[in-house]
Amino acid sequence: MSVQVAPSLLSADFSRLGEEIALVESAGAGLLHLDVMDAHFVPNLTFGPIIIEAVTQITSLPRDTHLMITDPDTYLDSFIKAGATTISFHLEAFEPPERQERADRILERLGDAGVGRGVALNPDTPLDWVLPWLDRLDHVLIMTVYPGFGGQKLIPESLARVPLLRQEIVQRGLEVTIGVDGGVTTGNAAEVAGAGADILVAGSAVFGADDPAAAIAVIRGER
Ligand code: DX5
Ligand code: ZN
Repeated sequence: MSVQVAPSLLSADFSRLGEEIALVESAGAGLLHLDVMDAHFVPNLTFGPIIIEAVTQITSLPRDTHLMITDPDTYLDSFIKAGATTISFHLEAFEPPERQERADRILERLGDAGVGRGVALNPDTPLDWVLPWLDRLDHVLIMTVYPGFGGQKLIPESLARVPLLRQEIVQRGLEVTIGVDGGVTTGNAAEVAGAGADILVAGSAVFGADDPAAAIAVIRGER
């Protein structure tokens, strides 16, 4: 399977959102990555279901929704209704002992709604955290920066989890996809894909480029 690029709208020009989406869509983006932040789980505030609903109306690309929020379970239904196709929530949002129960319940609700079940892991969270849920997941989002802001530098140590996760997925015969999120550039995309990622999230490397279409082609490994 070849790698897919998921441009993160975080770095798009929100005054021209429709044009930005049309541009990456025609340039070969495989999905749109939607970064939802609540100024609580992360020190930044972005957008919620209203924007995702608007995006859903103007694109056929999957809406790969990344919830960096403290209460993903409380707001889950609004994101499902807004048209998210996959929802990744952070296990770090929950403290044990309730982590297990809340994550279980979210995955069940996503499954019932026919929405892709995703879990996101902060750059310093060990891979072990996600392994008990792996058989019930469609997607794992491996963070290679501390979430909150676009335009940061990829943390190489965080990427080391990707080949291990790939190995585990293959060994169990699963079809879980791996996304890598944070600091992906035209310069390191080949390395990130080589580590075993299926989906490369790229915000500033796409929307900050002089030629976003060319950047997508390079990140996909076509040039
Ligand atoms: C970070 C977000 C990322 C980020 C990616 O909190 O989850 O999706 O926007 O942006 P770049 O590609 O610029 O690191
Ligand atoms: Zn993200």
